[in-house]
Amino acid sequence: MSDSVQEFFGLRRRPFDKDLPDEALWLDPTRSDGIDRLVEAAQNRQHALVLGEPGVGKNCVLRGLRSRLSPVHFKLHYVAHVSLGKRDFYKQICMALGVECKLMPATLYATIQSNLVAIARERVHPVLILDEAHLIPDSSLGTLHVLANFEWDSEPVMTLILVGLPELGERLKLSLHRSLLTRIAHKIEVAPANAEETATYVQKRLDDAGARHALFASDALVVLHELTGGVLRSIDVLADAALRVAAHHKKKLVDRAIVRQAFQLTPLA
Ligand SMILES: Nc1ncnc2c1ncn2[C@@H]1O[C@H](COP(=O)(O)OP(=O)(O)OP(=O)(O)O)[C@@H](O)[C@H]1O
Ligand SMILES: [Mg+2]
Repeated sequence: MSDSVQEFFGLRRRPFDKDLPDEALWLDPTRSDGIDRLVEAAQNRQHALVLGEPGVGKNCVLRGLRSRLSPVHFKLHYVAHVSLGKRDFYKQICMALGVECKLMPATLYATIQSNLVAIARERVHPVLILDEAHLIPDSSLGTLHVLANFEWDSEPVMTLILVGLPELGERLKLSLHRSLLTRIAHKIEVAPANAEETATYVQKRLDDAGARHALFASDALVVLHELTGGVLRSIDVLADAALRVAAHHKKKLVDRAIVRQAFQLTPLA
């Protein structure tokens, strides 16, 4: 969205940008509950699985978790590049944990474990987040349960959070991965917004950007929901396009015709 579109609607910033501050996250009861359960998993030294279709807001739920965990007691490690062979996969985990690793997988493994023990001794509980975990090759996923199971003082020394598309849940049910599955205590499903939630979400993002009155007619919000299936990232794309089209036609209120016109300008069409 150009500055002139922002100016036309009297907004302070781009309402549907992805770099929103943690305090501005939209947390419906299901997302809040998901974050509560992740906090509980970290506090109880349990593992968790976060599943959802692309763009529904899994990373935003993780951001909610990050803002809830005190750095005095928890150390979050985030690994995004998991589509790697075993050696590189463990290298990524080493990097996240701040461990030097020039070694072979077997030794790497021991290095990671001893590092986790060292962190745990400092009474800082490590929380390792593996994002896009549906991309982890079987060879790497198949060894994770050993890390997940690693115990010190009879409690796992870290919390493992696997984040991925719904098929990850199905994959973990295969016999190959059942040892890992049985060690995971929580499943958090992040769902698309329903029609009412889509309207609330759009309004919140606009309010946070400084909108002083409604910019979308209620029927426009219904169409916005239908065309995006309530996937938040798609809502962002379409709502942003709709504001641009409206500004182009010098209309202060987005109606459903504008949303439909804007839809054709997005790859969603
Ligand atoms: N709780 C939220 N509050 C505000 N905006 C959100 C929220 N959840 C998602 N969004 C918006 O939707 C976009 C996509 O969210 P996110 O990156 O969390 O999805 P994802 O499920 O991790 O997607 P992918 O599977 O593609 O990684 C964000 O950039 C943000 O603009
Ligand atoms: Mg994501």
